[in-house]
Amino acid sequence: MTAVGIDAIEIWTGKLMLDLPNTFAPVKGDDPEKYTKGLGLYASSFPDTYEDIVTMGANAAKQLMDRQDLKPTDIGRIDVATESAFDHSKPVSTYIAGCLEQVYEGDFRHANKGERKFACVAGTQSIDDAYNWIQAGRNRGRAALVIATDTALYARGDPGEATQGAGAVAMLIDEDPSVVELSTEQGYGSMDETDFLKPNQQFPSVDGKRSMQVYLARMREALEDFESVAWDTHPDDFAYIPFHTPFPGMVRKAGLLGFRHMIRDTEIEDELEGEIGRQPREPDFETREDYEAAIRDHMDDLKRTDRYRAWYDATIDPTLELSSTVGNWYTGSVHIARTSALRHAAETGVDLVGSKLLVGSYGSGAQAEIHAETVQDGWKDEIQGLNIDDQLDARYDLSWSEYELVHDVHEYDKETDIDVEEFTPPSEEFVFTGWGRMNERRYEYVE
Ligand code: HMG
Repeated sequence: MTAVGIDAIEIWTGKLMLDLPNTFAPVKGDDPEKYTKGLGLYASSFPDTYEDIVTMGANAAKQLMDRQDLKPTDIGRIDVATESAFDHSKPVSTYIAGCLEQVYEGDFRHANKGERKFACVAGTQSIDDAYNWIQAGRNRGRAALVIATDTALYARGDPGEATQGAGAVAMLIDEDPSVVELSTEQGYGSMDETDFLKPNQQFPSVDGKRSMQVYLARMREALEDFESVAWDTHPDDFAYIPFHTPFPGMVRKAGLLGFRHMIRDTEIEDELEGEIGRQPREPDFETREDYEAAIRDHMDDLKRTDRYRAWYDATIDPTLELSSTVGNWYTGSVHIARTSALRHAAETGVDLVGSKLLVGSYGSGAQAEIHAETVQDGWKDEIQGLNIDDQLDARYDLSWSEYELVHDVHEYDKETDIDVEEFTPPSEEFVFTGWGRMNERRYEYVE
């Protein structure tokens, strides 16, 4: 079977930032450590006044096309994954293609364009569609451009407000990929849930605590489903495990649950028996409640063991570095986690070629997907070419009143003047310029 996977990655962050411990926490009257230690978040990215899902997606895609020296006819498919779309009919991919056609010779006339929606898991689903399209031999030698782009804003005062973020990840899916090859095996955990949804509204209705339980339940089912078609996973099988990261604290919980699952009936459980005992087994308990209480106690003990800490620090923590400073990018979030891990490996001189990643995606509503990836020869060059650190350093640090204004500017129902002054001067990028006669959004490239 042809090797298919991610050949190139580019990231575009919203150009503004909100400092959570120093700007957000004091106004909310919270201990800053609720954010840095509890949620694991230091800052969130926000779009400047002229940025939106189209500009961020098009800018990420342009960086990718420039670095890979691609022309429009090299691309046979453009899929945009987003849960921040502003049009029920015309897909965001058409706007992004229109932007790119302003700056490249030729066009995307013969590319299949679409938009994918399933909360945050849609980015991974778009990669999946591209994978299938290539494996089916329908790509005529062309690659697919997958763009995950979101402005993850919550209503002011919602508990989710601390976990906002904005940015785009562009990925080129191709044969013989340079970064990672995708496994054919996949696992799913999918149920009709109402943990987080946006029924014809811009900001989500969220049951935050329940959303965390649903995330963990669907992720466990997806792992079991993956194992049923792949192999019984072991913690040492994977160099990194990037998860969907609404905030790093969520991934701490997912990592612990995954570790407990993977070590059951292995030499690691034997090793830890003297220290914390064996894992509770349900048949040994009279009621489900008793079993669950015993599991909670056991997990508390497990997470303090050196064996777990060492695994977590090596396998999970590096996936969280970028998220902790940009917040939740919804569809892009798990792809940020993968990039963060690869960037960490490049910076610390880890040789990853041939190593495996286990990737856990999640979208509210709800569905988790798990697959494996094998790191390819070209991963390091690709990751070292990213300019994400420069972008992060250049972000404008918002004061509280500026944050309130930016939130209003991006709220559809608020009549905020489009002429609100920008915070950063745009340069060599696509910008939003206003609305056309059919209420379409309009964009242009600024030199
Ligand atoms: P909250 O009620 O403000 O926070 O909302 P909390 O009181 O639960 O505190 C958060 C953590 O900080 C807790 O840790 C506290 O103990 C700790 P935990 O007990 O859970 O381990 N804490 C402190 N730690 C140290 N020092 C302190 C301190 N104070 C507290 N002083 C909540 C948190 C996540 C509910 C909220 O932010 C929210 O509603 N977020 C949005 C929903 C969300 O992100 N859900 C995640 C799973 S669903 C998902 O991932 C899908 C999603 O991406 C959407 C999609 O798919 O499209 C959201």
